[in-house]
Amino acid sequence: MEKTIIKKVGAMLGFDPNSCDGILCPGGTFSNLTAVLTARNEACPTAKEEGLTGAPKLVAFSSPGAHYSVKNAAHVLGIGTENVIQVPSNFDSMIPEELGTLKHISLLVICLLIWLWHTFRETNYRSKRGR
Ligand SMILES: Cc1ncc(COP(=O)(O)O)c(C=O)c1O
Repeated sequence: MEKTIIKKVGAMLGFDPNSCDGILCPGGTFSNLTAVLTARNEACPTAKEEGLTGAPKLVAFSSPGAHYSVKNAAHVLGIGTENVIQVPSNFDSMIPEELGTLKHISLLVICLLIWLWHTFRETNYRSKRGR
């Protein structure tokens, strides 16, 4: 079942279903942890065996409405909660011009966390509908 769903979701996102791979996660916290772990290991291929000693300072960009589990993932993975940089965004998207005002020279940006439907939007959607 997992392989079938991954192929179908991959095809929906425009990937070749036969070259898609992935895992199904039991919830948002685990999904965010897996995403940040994957990005960290891609940026620092020796992190698993050697840790982050000697690695550049890692940062992740997220939106201000990002779920707190993103900072938890940064904590657990040795990135640091202060290194999750919340880039100002409007209701639907990050404001790219704001990236230029952030001072992160000599940092390694490992990921940009985005949500198709994150908690902030869902909360607003619910409050607009009186739920
Ligand atoms: C974007 C996002 N990430 C993580 C979570 C946490 O999910 P869970 O409670 O399944 O761990 C939520 C829950 O609403 C969420 O909306």
